[in-house]
Amino acid sequence: MAEPIRVVVSGAAGRMGETVCGAVEAADGLELAARADPALDAPLEETLAGGDVMVDFSTPESAAENVKQAVNAGVHAVVGTTGFDLEQLRSDVESAEGEAKCLVAPNFAVGAVLMMDFSRRAAEHMPEAEIIELHHDQKKDAPSGTAKRTAELIRDAGGNVHEPIHSVRLPGFVAHQEVIFGGEGQTLSIRHDTTDRSSFMPGVVLAVRGVAEMPERFAVGLENVL
Ligand SMILES: NC(=O)c1ccc[n+]([C@@H]2O[C@H](COP(=O)([O-])OP(=O)(O)OC[C@H]3O[C@@H](n4cnc5c(N)ncnc54)[C@H](O)[C@@H]3O)[C@@H](O)[C@H]2O)c1
Repeated sequence: MAEPIRVVVSGAAGRMGETVCGAVEAADGLELAARADPALDAPLEETLAGGDVMVDFSTPESAAENVKQAVNAGVHAVVGTTGFDLEQLRSDVESAEGEAKCLVAPNFAVGAVLMMDFSRRAAEHMPEAEIIELHHDQKKDAPSGTAKRTAELIRDAGGNVHEPIHSVRLPGFVAHQEVIFGGEGQTLSIRHDTTDRSSFMPGVVLAVRGVAEMPERFAVGLENVL
């Protein structure tokens, strides 16, 4: 039997991190090697040696540094944290020694990946668009990484996303986004709702299994391992 992929979860004490630890423990062929989080008194650098892949759901301030530590230690990185500079991280990963790779996905829910893809296609025919994203009130960044990525995809397809992106932060929400396209005498709304953090887990497990096989060292979007 193949050796299990050993996974270090960074941000393991957080809402997402705890859910990821459970998903890794439940997944065939994956082994939870360590839970890293300052809140658990378990710094990442002390846990990386036992890992093949690090999964990071931490904070916008710490994610890039965590990825650099992992990649420099020869550990692949799967990153869900949002709200930091991806282009800087791309150049850091691509210039790092060794061959460790990094996949960043602003959204691991398959429905959200489809919402982004459908939005890109809609923009080719109905270019005028607005994005409304709604999240729980503990979320640190606004607009969300998913909304920024959707706007980028719409612009690349020739669409015109109106500024600003509307960000709603209220208790009761988990993660939701509606993209509205307006045309003459008609509108088209594409909406995705995450009602439970378990929605992200199949995507995270897929990314852990696929990150080492990516053709590039750095990629953005779950579609790179689908
Ligand atoms: N990509 C996705 O599909 C997706 C889905 C949901 C949330 N997110 C993002 O994931 C991130 C985490 O969200 P959350 O709701 O779990 O937040 P959270 O505040 O519940 O958890 C963050 C955890 O990170 C820990 N932390 C702080 N500094 C750290 C460091 N230097 N190294 C490691 N861990 C550190 C904190 O102690 C905390 O336990 C956010 O950026 C959020 O936007 C992404």
